[in-house]
Amino acid sequence: MTAALEARGLTKEFRGFVAVNDVNLSVETGSIHALIGPNGAGKTTCFNLLTKFLKPTAGKIIYKGQDITALSPTQIARLGIVRSFQISAIFPDLTVLQNVRIALQRRRGESFDFWRSEKTLSRYDDKARDYLEEVGLTEFERHRAAELPYGRKRALEIATTLALDPEMLLLDEPMAGLDATAQHQFLDIIDRLREGGATVVLSTHDLSCVSQRCDKAACLNRRLVAYGTPEEVLNEDVLGETFGTHLLLVHVDGQAYAYQHHSHAPPSDIGDSGGK
Ligand SMILES: Nc1ncnc2c1ncn2[C@@H]1O[C@H](COP(=O)(O)OP(=O)(O)OP(=O)(O)O)[C@@H](O)[C@H]1O
Ligand SMILES: [Mg+2]
Repeated sequence: MTAALEARGLTKEFRGFVAVNDVNLSVETGSIHALIGPNGAGKTTCFNLLTKFLKPTAGKIIYKGQDITALSPTQIARLGIVRSFQISAIFPDLTVLQNVRIALQRRRGESFDFWRSEKTLSRYDDKARDYLEEVGLTEFERHRAAELPYGRKRALEIATTLALDPEMLLLDEPMAGLDATAQHQFLDIIDRLREGGATVVLSTHDLSCVSQRCDKAACLNRRLVAYGTPEEVLNEDVLGETFGTHLLLVHVDGQAYAYQHHSHAPPSDIGDSGGK
């Protein structure tokens, strides 16, 4: 397998604090690649570096053999690298169906014309409905995106992301804040992405997702602590050292399940009111 995305010596320093230190990653084309590590390990910073929202202090990023270290986030997006799970990417006043339709229009090579008539745009509807069905949002198609509860908003983000038909998807904690049903739907989507040949990098605190769905895992704690197959990385020695004594690792039928005593803080915009 060839590497789609590579990080070489990736380093990010914030005013003397090294959040990501000399990290080397190699993400094979068509694979599902996990980034794990405790809170503050540098996972989100890595995503920000890989998608060019942050400039690395040192190191290189290579995509399909091309050095993309100097490109802008927009240029990266044009290459087919899509970063998801920014709720701000959703248009709150448009309906669920309209949001997916816009993503379909924005697909590489197609123009994004707000002024097209509703009739012209409606040719995207069937396709948009397919994506809504995939994420369980069929019954919500006429709802305004802003009205959706948190978990459904994330499902809508997934639908809009899939509609962009990305070559490479970078998902920072896609399962955070999802209920059990939505988590299962997400795992099904991962399976479909794999079948479709997409390359996925995701960060997660859910280690059962890593052992069940990922081909490779990088355990970060500012530095790369362990790197390899989930079986190689998800073991007591690596995780005990990285996550401390707060981690309980259980093996059932060959799968590793990890429980953290300190649960991850919920995203700040959970709930319908009071969030920022
Ligand atoms: N813009 C910034 N300025 C200064 N420090 C930052 C900045 N962004 C992140 N950091 C610091 O870098 C470290 C790594 O943060 P990061 O958000 O990448 O961790 P993470 O692995 O994503 O954690 P979590 O699991 O909680 O999401 C933290 O100590 C954080 O405070
Ligand atoms: Mg993070």
